[in-house]
Amino acid sequence: MEKIDIVLGAQFGDEGKGRIVGYMCASGKYDICARFNGSDNAGHTVIIDSDKKIAFRQVPVGSAYGMACIIGRGCIVDLNNLNDEIKEIEKISGGWVLYLDNRCHVKTQGHRRRDAEEEKSRSESIGTTLSGNGPAHADKYARRNIRVCDIDINEYPNIRRRAILADTSLFLASSKCEHVLVEGAHGIMLDIDHGTYPFVTSSGCTAGAACHSLGIPPHRIGKVIGVIKPYITRVGAGAFPTEILDDELSSKIREIGREYGTNTGRPRRIGWLDLQALTYAVRVGGITEIALTKVDILNELFRVRICIGYEHTTRGHLPSKDFDYREVKPMYVDLEWGKYSRHNLMDLIERHVGVPVTMVSDEANGGLWKP
Ligand code: IMP
Ligand code: MG
Repeated sequence: MEKIDIVLGAQFGDEGKGRIVGYMCASGKYDICARFNGSDNAGHTVIIDSDKKIAFRQVPVGSAYGMACIIGRGCIVDLNNLNDEIKEIEKISGGWVLYLDNRCHVKTQGHRRRDAEEEKSRSESIGTTLSGNGPAHADKYARRNIRVCDIDINEYPNIRRRAILADTSLFLASSKCEHVLVEGAHGIMLDIDHGTYPFVTSSGCTAGAACHSLGIPPHRIGKVIGVIKPYITRVGAGAFPTEILDDELSSKIREIGREYGTNTGRPRRIGWLDLQALTYAVRVGGITEIALTKVDILNELFRVRICIGYEHTTRGHLPSKDFDYREVKPMYVDLEWGKYSRHNLMDLIERHVGVPVTMVSDEANGGLWKP
């Protein structure tokens, strides 16, 4: 069978995965698009045909391109929101079908309420999306949650019309699933096991997690594309060694890059590209190549800093405690930013993390080119 390609966020989410997935769907190479993690706490904004903009939350981006889509069993679904989202996507795209795994866990209003209560009771809030994601995963792992197979789907007319409730791992193993693209949500630094715990989401965000959640064997995986921006953003609390503390500069990047949450509208924290963290993400995430988005945002800056390691820290290692991670001292190289600097930047990334940069996208013209 053909190999399955995966797109992952290699930072803290919001790297522009939606754009890369949209580009790959538009290439015509794939006929199935699958989601494996997260819930409606994730948001992918995709601009289609320059005028249509959709914020995807639970449905894979491939739906906008008329592809068959899968919500794998590792996802948690909010059925009310899924019902509404299907209707929104149907306004721009009709020829798609959704395979919703029977084993997906279901998220309820009760989970949302608990998320808000738990955030209030924490000594330092995580800054969750308040969408009930953590409590729904807690109920799942405590083995007391309900799943899609327990629900009367007739209560959700759009889901009933558009979706096929299925064993999606069986579908993925069938001859109908030759050309599959998997789209990750969030980013590896927010992974429940590999991220900056406890300031993380509740899902796995790696290629390994994709195999586990979709029920596909590791030997079927082909390319694993890690998406990054040439700077970092983070929403919510937690260590961020390369955070830009100069308000004027961080606001400037936030405004040019429009760095506000897709779902929550929250301003994102801004920092310099961190190749120590990226080396880690490439390793644990199983990344084989890098897609660099929003590279033209840097055109507005004179000087760009890139963290190439932390003092007294092994290459590719991150301290496990958030408290210790806050204390690391990044070592920087500075690039005077000019017309040809993006090539220097790509060289630096490739030399440091050991995988090639195979795609670059510009924010301004929505263009995407292969270096
Ligand atoms: P939760 O997933 O709502 O529990 O939020 C946990 C942490 O993950 C918080 O720091 C959120 O800001 C972050 N997070 C969750 N989803 C996203 C996303 O799609 N983009 C960026 N950060 C996210
Ligand atoms: Mg997002």
